[in-house]
Amino acid sequence: MKIGQKIFRLDTVDSTNNYAANLIKEGKIVHGTVILADEQTAGRGQRGAVWSSQAGENLLLSLYVVPDNLSVDLQVSLTHFASISVVELLRKIGICAEVKWPNDIYVNSKKIAGILIENILSSGKVSQTVIGIGLNVNQKNFELASATSIQHEKNDFYPIEQVLFQLINEFNIWWEILNNGELKSLRAFYLNNLYLLNKEADFEDEKGRFRGTIKGVSEVGFLLVEKLGELKKYDLKEIRFIGQNTF
Ligand code: BTN
Repeated sequence: MKIGQKIFRLDTVDSTNNYAANLIKEGKIVHGTVILADEQTAGRGQRGAVWSSQAGENLLLSLYVVPDNLSVDLQVSLTHFASISVVELLRKIGICAEVKWPNDIYVNSKKIAGILIENILSSGKVSQTVIGIGLNVNQKNFELASATSIQHEKNDFYPIEQVLFQLINEFNIWWEILNNGELKSLRAFYLNNLYLLNKEADFEDEKGRFRGTIKGVSEVGFLLVEKLGELKKYDLKEIRFIGQNTF
């Protein structure tokens, strides 16, 4: 089944990812289902953060997909799939976006979208996954100065429904690539859109602050950073991005 053939539209929900998880438990969800909400009362971000969004202004959705044969070791491909889908949607709208590792979507150093992926693993495979995406569409004022939206970038109102269908279109394009096992092309595309790739920036690891250069991502998704002439591999909790040109 194609992605987006079944869509649940909700006015208010705690979190679209939670709603999807409940449908999974009840066995009432099929591959390709999209859950969309105007408002979330307990929107969740990465690492236990809260995802807040003004009611009716932005795209808040969860996509439920069942990969045909995706090994647990290569689950990072789902991050690539989701990030690329959003970057490509934005490119077609005329916004040049990049992926800040691992899966924040940035425009001119401001965050426009966040992604929260929750996988269900079984027998060494990703058997089901819920991909939650919060994409700022028409919100104008943000608590954080480092956030932006489509309207903010384009100076124009964008109907959420239109953005939704464009995103579903991207999902279908990139899902076929993922499900066909073309994971290398997916990773190459992700790398081509990686924020600060090959540019010097400031980071912090367990040994303290340092100036380094992102060189890429490993096959399983670690960030590869050149530090004092040596290539280091970092997992999410092992490195913090400080900024560019702060020295
Ligand atoms: C992040 O950048 O921290 C990830 C944010 C993910 C937010 C989306 S909004 C729709 C879906 N439901 C949630 O509770 N979270 C995700």
